[in-house]
Amino acid sequence: MITKEYIRELKHRGNGDISSLVSNQHDVGSINFILENLGQLPENFNPDFLYSLLNHQHAQVRLNAVKNIGKLNEKSDVNSLIGLYKREIDTTVKREIVSSIGRQRQSTNKSLLFGFLEDDDPKIVCQAIRGLLVFESNKEVEEHLRPLINHPNEMVRTVIYKEYFAKENQKQSVLPHTETYDFLKNTVVNADVLEALKSVPDESVHLTFTSPPYYNARDYSIYPSYQAYLEFLETVFKETHRITKEGRFLIVNTSPIIIPRVSRSHSSKRYGIPFDLHPYLVKNGWEFIDDIVWLKPEASVKNRVGGFMQHRKPLGYKPNSVTEYLMVYRKSTEKLLDWNIRNYDCKTVEESKVADGYETNNVWKIDPCFDKVHSAIFPVELCKRVIQYYSYKGDLVFDPFGGSGTVGKTAKALERLFFLTEQEPKYFEYMQSKQKAQSVFKERATRFLTLEQFKKIAK
Ligand SMILES: C[S@@+](CC[C@H](N)C(=O)[O-])C[C@H]1O[C@@H](n2cnc3c(N)ncnc32)[C@H](O)[C@@H]1O
Repeated sequence: MITKEYIRELKHRGNGDISSLVSNQHDVGSINFILENLGQLPENFNPDFLYSLLNHQHAQVRLNAVKNIGKLNEKSDVNSLIGLYKREIDTTVKREIVSSIGRQRQSTNKSLLFGFLEDDDPKIVCQAIRGLLVFESNKEVEEHLRPLINHPNEMVRTVIYKEYFAKENQKQSVLPHTETYDFLKNTVVNADVLEALKSVPDESVHLTFTSPPYYNARDYSIYPSYQAYLEFLETVFKETHRITKEGRFLIVNTSPIIIPRVSRSHSSKRYGIPFDLHPYLVKNGWEFIDDIVWLKPEASVKNRVGGFMQHRKPLGYKPNSVTEYLMVYRKSTEKLLDWNIRNYDCKTVEESKVADGYETNNVWKIDPCFDKVHSAIFPVELCKRVIQYYSYKGDLVFDPFGGSGTVGKTAKALERLFFLTEQEPKYFEYMQSKQKAQSVFKERATRFLTLEQFKKIAK
């Protein structure tokens, strides 16, 4: 049996041994095993057998041969690789050829790499870009790469944007990443969110978690049309994007809703809110990160399947809806998450670490919550998880649709700050009354403000 140790030994003993070991193999698995375990190639390595393998009938063998040829760097024969590229049908092998040529860092390969920029496969274009970016501040390279900002593929555009345009467009944030404005800290404003946000500076909040009003499902959420409703939410989340710090998160809790039928001669209408809202968020600079499903016990939801249970006729199937969505977005940035995390001091990072028992998958089983005053509150447990997983201690958490104040209460309990807006006086007063009863926002001053008062302190 061929072992890794044996391959290593043969490789150092002399290259002819490896070449004959490969030619003695009759099964593809063994050839690949040898090629995958060759590791670094010694100085005196004779690669001839690798070039013969470029004609092997199995793509995986050709791929492994290209990978090993790539290790030869400037000593590898580019013409053989280009020959294979022209006749190759396997995209993985083609990508590896481009990567291999790029890794050579040879100025003489530039024109080949320029050619690959025309390929239809965006991954090949990205490999060629990678290979070209090593020629830093090279005018010719820049002239070929900059125009790719208009490339049809989004991955290509992102790489080019980061490389050539991000720095030019970078606005210097007024506040350090971890800090926010005093007038927003633990503040609840009784106003239309869009009015209140006019007084909120760019890049003020670290996390937004919210459950928007459901389309025409409750008395506080009446809109002239579904389109008007989506456009209203679009504006709210566009503004939220503006006030969100670079690379931070927005989590939106929604679910499809049903508007009951007008009469027996009509059908009820179902609106897929999370799916319809999604394109508006992405269009406005929110990068989609995750979908989390909030799963409720079946006994807690409205019975829809009852009719079907009686008649059992296909097409009339209507399952009970036991789920809601938590759609997770990040404010688009070319900075990695590590950049965000590095802004915090070690103590904050340590103290914000999520304890054992966290959710390991995207289906969270949580009982719904009911309240005597507000008919659509989300459970503290749901809020707790979101705040713990997506913010650090001391961060400002925003809820544009504050409701009964679950986000405020939970943020405070988790040593975060909060900023809420709520339009309805009855819910605003409800939050205030709970503050008085010392149960919602606990001891430390929460500011309950009218829009006018808020505008004044914002100045
Ligand atoms: C689904 S509830 C949020 C409940 C909240 N998550 C809680 O746990 O209590 C949506 C809230 O948004 C409020 N709202 C609707 N339109 C608003 C607007 N334009 N500005 C501010 N709040 C608004 C409603 O009054 C309602 O209380």
